[in-house]
Amino acid sequence: MTKTYEPLQSVRWDNNELILLDQTKLPEETEFLILQDVQQVWDAIERLKVRGAPAIGITAAYGVYVAIRNFEAATVDELLAEVKKQADYLATSRPTAVNLFWALDRMVHRAETAATQGESVSEIKRSLLGEAQDIQAEDEAVCRAIGEHALTLFSDGMGVLTHCNAGGLATAKYGTATAPMYLAHEKGWNIKVFADETRPVLQGARLTAYELQQAGIDVTLICDNMAAKVMSNGWVQAVIVGTDRVAANGDVANKIGTYGLAVLARAHNIPFYVAAPLSSIDVKTPTGKEIPIEEREADEIIHGLGRQVAPADIKVYNPAFDVTPHEYVTAIITEKGIIRAPYTEKLQALLQK
Ligand code: MRU
Repeated sequence: MTKTYEPLQSVRWDNNELILLDQTKLPEETEFLILQDVQQVWDAIERLKVRGAPAIGITAAYGVYVAIRNFEAATVDELLAEVKKQADYLATSRPTAVNLFWALDRMVHRAETAATQGESVSEIKRSLLGEAQDIQAEDEAVCRAIGEHALTLFSDGMGVLTHCNAGGLATAKYGTATAPMYLAHEKGWNIKVFADETRPVLQGARLTAYELQQAGIDVTLICDNMAAKVMSNGWVQAVIVGTDRVAANGDVANKIGTYGLAVLARAHNIPFYVAAPLSSIDVKTPTGKEIPIEEREADEIIHGLGRQVAPADIKVYNPAFDVTPHEYVTAIITEKGIIRAPYTEKLQALLQK
C-alpha cells in the first residue's frame, strides 16, 4: 500500500497572511504565529521560530513582501530602494545559511526586473508576492528530486543516521536529508533512522524525531555522544545530513556536531552524504574557512533543557555550525544529481546546468 505524507507546514501564505509554525514550541505545542511586520519576521528567524536553511529563505522572501506591501511609494524607484533596504535588514537575521541571502537576492532581482519591464508600484508588489510563492513551490519540487536521487543510494532495511533537522519542517516539504526517508516509506521500505538529539537546542529530538514518528517512519532518538556506539554496533549503513552552505571546494557547513559525525563515519567506513539544494551552494565562498559561523548566546547552554544546567556566569563557547572538510564528504546529493569528489568543477557545472 502506498503511504501519503502530509506533514505540518512550517511556513504558509494563507489569506494574505504569513503564518509560521513556531518550531521552538514543538513537540509539546503546535502553535502558529501570524507575522504582521518585518520586525516580527526578522525576530522569528533570529529566535529560531523558523529555522533550517530553505525555510529561512522562504520566510525571508515573504518577509520582503510583508515589509513593502503597505509602503506608499510615489515612484517605482522609491519602491525599489525600500525593497533593497528591507532585504538588507532581513539579511542581518542569521549569518550562516546562504539560502537566506539567495532568496533575498531573488526578491530584489524580481523587483528590478519588474521595474525594467515597466510594471507599476502595485504590480511590482504583486510580483514580489508571486516570487516568494515560487521560491516555496520550487523548494518542494527540489526536495522531492533530492529524495529521488538519494534513494538510489538507499536500500530496504538500511540503517541511516541523521543530524539536526533537515526535514520537512526545515523546508517547504520532504526536507533534504529526510526526503529519501519519506520516499522510501512511500515505497514500503523499512529504513531505520537514528536521529541525533543535536544539542544545544535539540532540533533532532524536538523536530526530526517528531516529524519522522508522525509519518510512521522507524526512528530512534540518540544523544549526540552515542553516534560512535551506534556505528560500532553496525546499525548504520549511511549518514545523511543537510547543509546551510556548501563552499566552492565542497566544504560543508551544517549544524554543530556534523564534522564529528563525518570523522566517525570515515573511521567506521560508512558513507557520509550531504543533501544540498542548489540554493545552498555558494561558489562565491571559496572554502569552508570563509563561511561565517554563527555564535549564539551562552544562555542556550546555561539554561538548556528548561532549567539552569550550568553555573550562571560560566564562560561558554556556542557555535551553531561547523564545517566538514570536503575530504570527508562521500557525495553531495542535489536536485540535479549526485556528485562526488573532486567537487570544485562539478559544483560549478551543476549551477550552470
Ligand atoms: O540552526 P538551524 O536549526 O537553522 O540549523 C539547521 C541545520 O543545520 C540544518 O541541518 C540545515 O539548515 C539544513 S535544513 C534542510
